[in-house]
Amino acid sequence: MNSPDSTAHNCAIIDQFTRQAQDFAASAELHADEVLELIVDAAALDSRHRAIDLACGPGSVACALAKRASSVIGLDATPAMLAQAQARAGSMNLANIEWKEGSIYATPYAGGSFDAVTCRFAFHHLEDPSKAFAEMVRLAAPGGRVVLCDGIASDDPEKARAFNAMERRRDPSTVAFRTFGYLRQLFIESGLGEPHVHMFQVPYLAADLVKASFPEGEDRSGLLALIEASVENDALGMGARLSAEGVRIAFRSVVLSAVKLG
Ligand SMILES: C[S@@+](CC[C@H](N)C(=O)[O-])C[C@H]1O[C@@H](n2cnc3c(N)ncnc32)[C@H](O)[C@@H]1O
Repeated sequence: MNSPDSTAHNCAIIDQFTRQAQDFAASAELHADEVLELIVDAAALDSRHRAIDLACGPGSVACALAKRASSVIGLDATPAMLAQAQARAGSMNLANIEWKEGSIYATPYAGGSFDAVTCRFAFHHLEDPSKAFAEMVRLAAPGGRVVLCDGIASDDPEKARAFNAMERRRDPSTVAFRTFGYLRQLFIESGLGEPHVHMFQVPYLAADLVKASFPEGEDRSGLLALIEASVENDALGMGARLSAEGVRIAFRSVVLSAVKLG
């Protein structure tokens, strides 16, 4: 993979997402229509448009875009995720999508090839987000849209540190969830200007999240205990609260988008 990420990190990505692929593809929380629509709306495609979804995983975003666009490419580093994506497109009878194995940092497409360039829930796995974002901007045609979505860490540094420590334990391929301010700054520094912003939350029953995870040392009970303990003081910034079914948490998330001018 042509990538500034270290070899060890690239191995962690492929290892995690090969193991996660099936459960990740089946997650109702991540692939519900109303969640996918946040990206589709920000991409503002019509039937003449071409789009690319980077780090596409099991393909739900690419498939949602393909219902609007002329053609879509879904690119990802993990073959097992692309296999899930192919199956999803097949089940939806979508023939206008191409799946491509590759790196978000160096795609094989000419600059300005796409009317929308999207990436969802992958930047926290990247060691060099600025380089990946530069590739997104390069791929967008003048007048095209750049749409970035990810979970965000709390602005409280202590909660952000605790949240990222928990997330790296839950999924060792995580580098860091960044703050909203950090993601916004990617748009400003690239010259795209002030992004349009839509905040939302991805809620989970903590036990379900842990069940679908492959934590360090397979220590699911320790991980669940850590999350459950945060009910007391919201130490992770996930708004943990006790419900009749168990502890509920939410990933605070954001969609940022901007039009690439000229
Ligand atoms: C949490 S999943 C998100 C998948 C999808 N975007 C979604 O929102 O459902 C992260 C994905 O990023 C991919 N990924 C991580 N680093 C990558 C890189 N450097 N280049 C391409 N894909 C990468 C992984 O293989 C994985 O499929």
